[in-house]
Amino acid sequence: MQFTLLASSLMALAVSAVSASPVSNGARMILDVWSPTIISPNASTVWTEGQQYNVTWDTSNAPVNISNGASVRLGQDGVLTDTTLASGFDLRQGWVSVTCPSNVVPGDDYSVILFGDSGNQSPQFTIQSSLESILPGL
Ligand SMILES: *[C@@H]1O[C@H](CO)[C@@H](O)[C@H](O)[C@H]1NC(C)=O
Ligand SMILES: *[C@@H]1O[C@H](CO)[C@@H](O)[C@H](O)[C@H]1NC(C)=O
Ligand SMILES: *[C@@H]1O[C@H](CO)[C@@H](O)[C@H](O)[C@H]1NC(C)=O
Repeated sequence: MQFTLLASSLMALAVSAVSASPVSNGARMILDVWSPTIISPNASTVWTEGQQYNVTWDTSNAPVNISNGASVRLGQDGVLTDTTLASGFDLRQGWVSVTCPSNVVPGDDYSVILFGDSGNQSPQFTIQSSLESILPGL
């Protein structure tokens, strides 16, 4: 009886976490949902438009079986954008190579969101234009 109640409230939590916001960490409580910590990019990261970077995350607590279809999306100011940076990789590898898009407005409020069994968001980091990378302080 109590177990049923717990299971259904966990289920409701999972549903609300999914529908409320893809960057919510609420789903962390459910045992079979894995929300890996993103190591890079982080608050000290600066990406230059058009350059290649690795998005990396901690795989130390990865479950044995992970569903397919992982992807990395770009977020700005805490909101998911339409830009998919990578998809179709194995979450267990812990990194994926991405190209910083060159059609975005430079800013310091970008993040990446890692989708797989759950969604997890990186800290906000900076994207600079390629001109800024040559002429710092522009
Ligand atoms: C932050 O990201 C950079 C790469 O952008 C990486 O070299 C560095 O190790 C990361 N810092 C931490 C604390 O993980
Ligand atoms: C990304 O990580 C892989 C594996 O560690 C490495 O071989 C590759 O050179 C890295 N790429 C970049 C752009 O740092
Ligand atoms: C992982 O998946 C394999 C193949 O589907 C299955 O045989 C195995 O029992 C699963 N392991 C866990 C811990 O769920």
